[in-house]
Amino acid sequence: MNAAVRAVVRTTIACGGESWAIYEGYKGLVEGGRFFKQFSWYDVGGILHKGGTIIGTARSAEFRTREGRRQAVLNLIQHEIYNLVVIGGDGSLTGAHVLWQEWPELVAELVEAGALEGPAERYPRLRIAGLIGSIDNDMFGSDMTIGADTALHRIVDAIDAITSTAASHQRSFVVEVMGRNCGYLALMGALASGADWVLIPESPPNVENWEDKMCDVLRRGRAIGRRDSIVVVAEGARDRNGNPITSEYVRQVIEERLQEEVRTTILGHVQRGGSPSAFDRNLGTILGYHAVNHLRTLTSDEEPVVVGLRGNRVSFTPLSEALEKTRAVYEAIKAQEYDRAMELRGPSFKE
Ligand code: F6P
Repeated sequence: MNAAVRAVVRTTIACGGESWAIYEGYKGLVEGGRFFKQFSWYDVGGILHKGGTIIGTARSAEFRTREGRRQAVLNLIQHEIYNLVVIGGDGSLTGAHVLWQEWPELVAELVEAGALEGPAERYPRLRIAGLIGSIDNDMFGSDMTIGADTALHRIVDAIDAITSTAASHQRSFVVEVMGRNCGYLALMGALASGADWVLIPESPPNVENWEDKMCDVLRRGRAIGRRDSIVVVAEGARDRNGNPITSEYVRQVIEERLQEEVRTTILGHVQRGGSPSAFDRNLGTILGYHAVNHLRTLTSDEEPVVVGLRGNRVSFTPLSEALEKTRAVYEAIKAQEYDRAMELRGPSFKE
């Protein structure tokens, strides 16, 4: 995300604008004051190689309330900020959409309450560009979300490391990876590391006795001399009936049926940290640059967009569409319509 922050700040300044950072996400937006800081060109120097975000992030209960969002509008107007780049996942971008939708009413309420000088029409409507910052790669609007490639590298490095022990001891390992309801990291991590089996939320095993089938694959691998066996489990994996498939369950199944010790590694937050990959740095830079350029072309009332990368091209998707299509995948998974879920995830995932 730092590459995106840097690009947004520097593009704005290069275009003659002022750039402000809002620290701690929506919490800072609601609290105002010290959370708003004007950034110079040099404030974003030397951050490309740093993981996470130098401006912090936080969940905000206040922003979920109308009063909180009204305060956020007041803080933005008091700083004369009418262009906002939001970098975040599904939750942050949903919040951005709500803020945009309510903006005219909240301004009118602030004028009514005497917090802003009237008339309400004198205040431009907020323009928003969203960048998807999420390791999960779970949102419509970009083939890759900022952070996903780095997390994938962490996962593949970890599996490679585990493979050494697995091969030396002829052991099976179950590796659990993050991703919430999205199987991207598990699927691509398994593919890149040559794992034996992978379990993801969008495409549960389509046979009743998948446990037998999985153990057969592991057994056959051993029979032809394969020394390491790796099963990757997405944290949101489930069976055809929607019941979670946990890494612990998979471990027990393999242990019982193969009659050998099986180890589980839950990769956890190591996947979310560390220095970003070159791809992620450049993705953040390109999208940050285009987000600012896009905002400059907008007239006041246009819908917010998600700036992403689709088919190797920078793309601009209406935020509402990106959110709806993202939700549609979750709905399909919940309804156990797995073919539809895979279809909605798009060709690269499905193929
Ligand atoms: O959305 C990113 C993510 O890392 C998910 O993959 C994971 O389920 C979740 O966040 C973990 O959240 P927390 O850090 O709050 O435990």
